Amino acid sequence: MSLVLGIESSCDETGVALVRAEGGATPTLLAHALHTQAAMHADYGGVVPELASRDHIRRVLPLTDRVLGEAGRARADIDVVAYTRGPGLAGALLVGAGVACALAAALAKPVLGVHHLEGHLLSPFLGSDPPEFPFIALLVSGGHTQLMRVDGVGRYTLLGETIDDAAGEAFDKSAKLLGLGYPGGPALGRLAEFGDDSAYNLPRPLLHSGNLDFSFAGLKTAVLTQARQLEGAPCELMRANLAASTQAAIVEVLVKKSLKALELTGLTRLVVAGGVGANHRLREQLNEACARRGVRVHYPELELCTDNGAMIALAAAMRIQAGAEAPRPDYAFDVKPRWALEMRAAA
Ligand code: KG4
Ligand code: ZN
Repeated sequence: MSLVLGIESSCDETGVALVRAEGGATPTLLAHALHTQAAMHADYGGVVPELASRDHIRRVLPLTDRVLGEAGRARADIDVVAYTRGPGLAGALLVGAGVACALAAALAKPVLGVHHLEGHLLSPFLGSDPPEFPFIALLVSGGHTQLMRVDGVGRYTLLGETIDDAAGEAFDKSAKLLGLGYPGGPALGRLAEFGDDSAYNLPRPLLHSGNLDFSFAGLKTAVLTQARQLEGAPCELMRANLAASTQAAIVEVLVKKSLKALELTGLTRLVVAGGVGANHRLREQLNEACARRGVRVHYPELELCTDNGAMIALAAAMRIQAGAEAPRPDYAFDVKPRWALEMRAAA
């Protein structure tokens, strides 16, 4: 039996978790804890990297103790310490990597640096309806929008990605224009429930491009133009209509491109991961479209959609189980603020 501690600190969430990996069985989550810095960054309208790093320093050890307490384990019970090596904010990553390696050195246990996106795309394995390989992964977070073919642990082929803004960024920037604060994705989703999604005809860039790439920068400009016209006429319904129309535009592109990826590869399983995967409208539309085509859709548990330590511990455990990577018995570390997960598929 092997206990893997996972530490996530790539952006504005400090996440710690303990996962148990026995033999070749899918690892199970024993406990996890999270501290989100959203309120701290809200005043600035976005993440302030230096504040993020300092806050990770304050949170990571108390969260570790909480997780161990909840799991009824001691530090000495940990077999492997995993941490997010990248991509993300350099200073924030250094906190997690530094603490993970120091803790592992003190315990004389090995360490493993994990790719943040690999954590996201494997996160549904901790859910009640885990997928089977191979599958298409739609990765939709604040920094990434990618469609990936996943043939196994460590076997990832990039099929398409955003050429400008990420889907989460499109949600956040549009939400900001609607005065919804930071991070705006969930707030925009809530406001959209009261609006008419056909009220505004917003662009769906690259919808018919024939490839699997995305573009969301033009949408933000269109939302800006419409939001300006709402200024001075603060009508709650019109704001809700704009929110609903924005969400509909983003969701339509994500759904159509996911279906296209399934069609092109002939695969019949879809995994949706990353913060935007928590969006109700996206889930509703994907579920409907996939049910019609006999495609199974798998999501992480709602609380594991956004950044967390569980997915980092899980990814480390699955990499070790699959023989894709062995944990290191040395404690020198680096971080990779920019780090590609895979090779791009030949066109
Ligand atoms: O995966 P994540 O927690 O962090 C990154 O790795 O970026 O994703 C955060 C992103 C943010 O842009 C946030 O606004 C968006 O996910 N998000 C949502 C929802 N929940 C989080 N967007 C739309 N609807 C939601 N319910
Ligand atoms: Zn993330």
